[in-house]
Amino acid sequence: MADDPEEGMLSWDESVFRNEHVFEIDYVPETFEHRDTQVKSLTYALRPAVRGSRPLNVMIRGPPGTGKTTAIQKLFDEVGAQSREVRTLRVNCQVNSTRYSVFSRLFEATFDYEPPSSGISFKKLFGQVAEKLVEEDRVLVVALDDVNYLFYENEASDALYSLLRAHEEYPGAKVGVVVISSDPTLDPVSELDSRVQSVFRPEDVYFPVYDEPEIVDILRERVDRGFHDDVVSTTVLDRVASLTAESGDLRVGIDLLRRAGLNAEMRASRVVTEEDVENAYETSKYVHLSRSLSGLSENERALLAVIAHHDGGQAGEVYTPFEEETGLGYTRYSEIVNKLDQLGLIDAEYADIDGRGRSRSLSLAYDREAVLDRLE
Ligand SMILES: Nc1ncnc2c1ncn2[C@@H]1O[C@H](COP(=O)(O)OP(=O)(O)O)[C@@H](O)[C@H]1O
Ligand SMILES: [Mg+2]
Repeated sequence: MADDPEEGMLSWDESVFRNEHVFEIDYVPETFEHRDTQVKSLTYALRPAVRGSRPLNVMIRGPPGTGKTTAIQKLFDEVGAQSREVRTLRVNCQVNSTRYSVFSRLFEATFDYEPPSSGISFKKLFGQVAEKLVEEDRVLVVALDDVNYLFYENEASDALYSLLRAHEEYPGAKVGVVVISSDPTLDPVSELDSRVQSVFRPEDVYFPVYDEPEIVDILRERVDRGFHDDVVSTTVLDRVASLTAESGDLRVGIDLLRRAGLNAEMRASRVVTEEDVENAYETSKYVHLSRSLSGLSENERALLAVIAHHDGGQAGEVYTPFEEETGLGYTRYSEIVNKLDQLGLIDAEYADIDGRGRSRSLSLAYDREAVLDRLE
């Protein structure tokens, strides 16, 4: 009743979850099904590293939530267990979107402490990492995860050039590169400078979206580990899988399971119903949006908010309120427009405006309220 807040809640030690941790973002699953061909190709490319040679470079492409990060993480763990002669490092380029910060992560992995945040030139940073590699006679395998962010910042060619040419400047340095792109509209190799193209001939590995039966398989495994027995029925799991298949992003399904579980607990229920799933979907369907927003800078967020308030406006008109808020010039403004467009957060489409030439109209790619809620 109203005066007993405990009533109608599961007590603290009761839960539908056996292990809620398996629904967290950085959980690396024990089993990794339906990616055999991809894992085989990656193993083939990386195998030389275990023998002390430079591995083949690889380019992994595929939409979000198709297991790219997980695949490389699992492989790197295995390589690390096989051989102490190899140093593996996955750099998240959504967070480290410049050549300098990529190499700062490399420095950190090499020396176990962060480089000074200023006052050290790129050349020096790079030199210290490369010299240490040669001195230790180790092979370095770097995965540039979500490398598309380096392209959006025009940093990809420089970063790759330094990595791929390391052995010329520092004889004996053995570096392999894995680039991972989640942007289906980006063809990384063709976007690189010709000086980089001439030394970058990666093995191509593609991660397609999982089909619905595959999603069911993968999520069933997660349900078995994450929930107590009989909490999630087959019907409910099928519903989760079909909602997940709409975007093809497995993250939606995993988030959906967790939120549906929390909804069930909120109702003091020991089973998850389809209604719990439907309610959870209102939030989970925006997993991709939230992830994209989390990587944006202050000014990028500011522009998105301005566009939300001037949805469909011409680029020239939208600039005025943006400039008032940030004081940034038109060139920087256009760059940010391009980035938001490439991220799929907005649609920037050229349209003729009555004889005055062509201009871009800027509109949100997501529901306005959903964007504004998440920008707060
Ligand atoms: N084959 C699979 N088996 C189990 N879990 C998977 C599989 N593929 C992806 N996942 C899970 O789906 C989520 C998204 O995978 P991730 O590797 O981050 O995708 P991507 O890097 O392609 O965006 C992660 O939580 C991951 O654990
Ligand atoms: Mg990833």
